[in-house]
Amino acid sequence: MWGGRFAEGPSAVMREINASIPFDKRLWRQDLRGSQAHAAMLGAQGIITLEDAAAIGTGLELVAADFRADGVPVDLALEDIHMLAESRLGEKIGAASGRLHTARSRNDQVATDFRLWVRDSIDEANRALGLLQDALLARAEQHADSVMPGFTHLQVAQPVTLGHHLMAYYEMIARDRSRFADARARLNLCPLGSAALAGTGFPIDRDSTASALGFDGPTRNSLDSVSDRDFAIEYLTCATQCSLHLSRLAEEFVIWASQPFGFVSLSDQWSTGSSIMPQKRNPDAAELVRGHSGRIAGSLVSLMMTMKGLPLAYSKDMQDDKPPVFEAHDLLGLSIAAMTGMVESAVFRTDRMHEAASAGFSTATDLADWLVREGGVPFREAHHITGRAVARAEADGVRLDQLPLDALKEIDDRIDDRVYGVLSVEASVASRTSFGGTAPARVRAAVAAARAAREEEGR
Ligand code: ARG
Repeated sequence: MWGGRFAEGPSAVMREINASIPFDKRLWRQDLRGSQAHAAMLGAQGIITLEDAAAIGTGLELVAADFRADGVPVDLALEDIHMLAESRLGEKIGAASGRLHTARSRNDQVATDFRLWVRDSIDEANRALGLLQDALLARAEQHADSVMPGFTHLQVAQPVTLGHHLMAYYEMIARDRSRFADARARLNLCPLGSAALAGTGFPIDRDSTASALGFDGPTRNSLDSVSDRDFAIEYLTCATQCSLHLSRLAEEFVIWASQPFGFVSLSDQWSTGSSIMPQKRNPDAAELVRGHSGRIAGSLVSLMMTMKGLPLAYSKDMQDDKPPVFEAHDLLGLSIAAMTGMVESAVFRTDRMHEAASAGFSTATDLADWLVREGGVPFREAHHITGRAVARAEADGVRLDQLPLDALKEIDDRIDDRVYGVLSVEASVASRTSFGGTAPARVRAAVAAARAAREEEGR
């Protein structure tokens, strides 16, 4: 492509270090699409003849058909997807192919291709996350009344409902999707026409290529356009944040599936056995989702390190932008799909959850609140009284609601038998009706609102 100035070819190592085709071949659809828009614009503007533009358009379709049928061949001599596509176009249509690169550079070309690719990846993540939300909604509705221990410090804190717990993840995923949407909106400007770095003297129409490619308009500064990878970093930021959420949910499944907890049994589809211990049933998929989040975060760091010291405009370092984005895309897609499958198929052991929720004096706060409400006791004092009741129950080896009334009265005379009405885990969760609280009625309302929002999106 630049043989005019060079007498010798590159060394084998140069060829290898320089080539991006082994990975950027994944951009082929976006590359051909960008070239279609560019060629049509060149024709419409009279920069090349309409015949040449038409020949290029037809040729690009033939190249696309080949790539679709046979994949993209890796030929290090052709360096990257842009040169490979152009060379294939030459094989299809001959001399006219040489006019495609008028008023364009690989710098604005790759910036455009990559934006298109990241935009598709955002759309894909958004769709997949919507399905995960649907799975969470369905299970949350089913378990709006199922009592489980709520934890702080992984110590039993207060009873909650499983539906409420699952809806917490629905909220996280909702934020992830909104972050992806924000990133998409900022990304959606077209760098094509910025050429190598300075723009071009040809009378191009950047608005038309931008709109042909589904962008909101052209980017405003040619130097920035060819050297900006914020959109990829933002994508990785969103992917990382999302993967952290998936990892936390995965960790819950790992904990819940362990025998001492026994809160969930993962379906056969989402577990593996051990080659040596026949009794084992391991939550490998959940562990890998947890593991993948580290790699996704690593790809964000990788691209930030690539970009941090680069002067304007393009530098070849920027070719390293793609592997981390591709890796994050693949790992995130797998992680979302795996979590969706696990959520859909998990068998929740509500009996075990209920039992665990009843242990650990989880309704102690309810006793304190009752003293405040019914006895007019200041909360601090009620906290102290309840602490003594817990100590007594612990010493006697019973649950709070198993302490006889005379034992409670011994601790504080203002306690009467109405207190037993609030000491069960069911009463505890039912009482937490504040907005955003765990009461089954609240959970059902939250599910209904979320479902309406999902339906609204579908319209
Ligand atoms: N393969 C290159 C990349 O991915 C394309 C841009 C090449 N531009 C250049 N000036 N060498 O970044």
